[in-house]
Amino acid sequence: MSSFLSTALSSSFTPSSISSTKDHYKIASSTQISLLYKKPNNQHFHVSACKAIPPQRNNNKNSSSSSLSVETSKVDRRNMLLGLGGAYGAATIIGDKLALGADCTDLPLPYPDLTACTKSVISPIPDDPNAEQVECCPPTPLSEIKPYKIPVNPVKRIRPAAHLVDEAYIRKYMNAIEAMKALPDKDPRSFYQQAKIHCAYCNYGHKVKHPVTGEEVRFSVHGNWFFLPFHRWYLYFFERIAGELINDPTFALPYWNWDAPCGMTIPAMFVPEMSPLAGETRPNPLYDALRNPDHLPLNNDQDRCRQIVFDLNFNRAGGDNQLPDITRVCNNLAFVYRNMVSNAVDAERFMGNKYYVGCDIGRGAGSCELLHNPAHSWTGTTQNNNEDMGNFYSAGFDPIFYCHHGNVDRTWDVWRKLGGNDFGDQAWLDSKFFFYDELGDPVYVSVKDCLDEEKLGYEYQKVELPWLQARPPRKLEKSDVAANSTAPTVANAFPAKLDKVIKVLVQRPKKARSASQKKKKKEILVFQDIEYPMNEFVKFDVFINDEDEVGDLMSKAEFAGTFSTIPHGKGHEGGQVMASSFTIGLDEVLEDLQADDDEYILVTLIPKAGGDKVTIDGLKIDFV
Ligand code: C2O
Repeated sequence: MSSFLSTALSSSFTPSSISSTKDHYKIASSTQISLLYKKPNNQHFHVSACKAIPPQRNNNKNSSSSSLSVETSKVDRRNMLLGLGGAYGAATIIGDKLALGADCTDLPLPYPDLTACTKSVISPIPDDPNAEQVECCPPTPLSEIKPYKIPVNPVKRIRPAAHLVDEAYIRKYMNAIEAMKALPDKDPRSFYQQAKIHCAYCNYGHKVKHPVTGEEVRFSVHGNWFFLPFHRWYLYFFERIAGELINDPTFALPYWNWDAPCGMTIPAMFVPEMSPLAGETRPNPLYDALRNPDHLPLNNDQDRCRQIVFDLNFNRAGGDNQLPDITRVCNNLAFVYRNMVSNAVDAERFMGNKYYVGCDIGRGAGSCELLHNPAHSWTGTTQNNNEDMGNFYSAGFDPIFYCHHGNVDRTWDVWRKLGGNDFGDQAWLDSKFFFYDELGDPVYVSVKDCLDEEKLGYEYQKVELPWLQARPPRKLEKSDVAANSTAPTVANAFPAKLDKVIKVLVQRPKKARSASQKKKKKEILVFQDIEYPMNEFVKFDVFINDEDEVGDLMSKAEFAGTFSTIPHGKGHEGGQVMASSFTIGLDEVLEDLQADDDEYILVTLIPKAGGDKVTIDGLKIDFV
């Protein structure tokens, strides 16, 4: 038992001391962290406080000073906008802000250069003298990294919905995760190493060699078109390792079916600290102490059956909303509908913006990633803490992560069956990732090889898609909210800080388009350059032609979409400024609002978390 969880469990905490009260939760969490991040001689996750992180190399050899000054002036403007004084003045530019202009290429992303992997920064301000970093790099391969060969005629694995599994499945699943946790930490197939994969790929530990300049460039698999393929391959190997360890080639991971009412709670098998199976006394390997206790069934006799309904509209601030469960379910279904249908108008809008190594462009999560974010924050975020699920670097340490991502991967499949088409860009298809396979061999894989699930050997248990019927009802009457509004136009309202509700009138370049025009091009509303600190949980909801400024009802035609983030580090504050775009599909919404003939729409942005740290450059309507 060498994994961090079993270490935590076998420490001075008796199971009951990690209770669901908030105080105990805090204690458990910090104790677990200190156990988790042992010094390097223990070969555990290693946190170091560093004096200063060396400045990132500027990628642009030819015009380094000019690109530096571009960034600097931008940072200055952000300081003003964010009102954060000098906090960002000397900030290291990381991620997609590293390179500008000249080194931008449309070549595929190579797999990471493991020799260049560095610790991942997890504390709010990278230049803070107390900045914490964690060692997330994978073990050094002992043999050559080879292209992965997908087995021909693989044994079929059927991934079940987590709320529908039987005892035999739970036993098998627990055995598999227990076996992964029992492997030595240095084994690349151990749960510990598997969990760190997410940290290295998502908190800027990995770098790739720039295909033209040879420079080492940081990148991310979130907020862009790598989100779905990266996580698909990640789960693929995790599942094969789990199956290998229990000698069952049919073993398949469960998926958290949070898009259907019966799946809208934390799946029961993840909840108890000790095995939920009759007659067993072992610790439950699916348990994680770092979850929001408000969202778990209570551990006392009266409330053991209490079920907390998952909330896709979770705001963190102020705790849970007090809406009746049925309202929450309807909200969830409308939220899924918007992200799977209304806003998922094409590959870029569903899967995420195109992102090329070395370019300062294209950051923007697709509707699929935005649909996925709330399960992270709802499971892992409390007022004081966002580990494990609530931030990128530790999310993989909660076994539920892989169950959640099973459902995310499934939405890709569903979206295609509803008519969605993947990217055809060579740069995407030929992009590569590095993993260890089920035998512990180092391999690289391509995006193009994960597009066919049948070839990969798995499929999802079929369930109903109740959200397909959850398109909010059409308004009986046309509203005059936009026509009577005195709200400013875009030019007068932006750039803006989102510290209060913003209402803005947006002019439509074309109106009353015919059905065939709509089929060819979709009308979309684009929020440009949304900037926020990378460690901040940020959320805002968007409504169209609505008088309301509360925004807690989503199953109505006016609700158009939600933007939210997952923090990169622990804590809730600060961090390097990130920029993102966000898109809403307008065709269905405007039809349902009977506003298709209108020249102006009234857009309401309702900040729900971290709004005072968010700035938005502008808004525009586009046709794609
Ligand atoms: Cu890589 Cu759910 O995140």
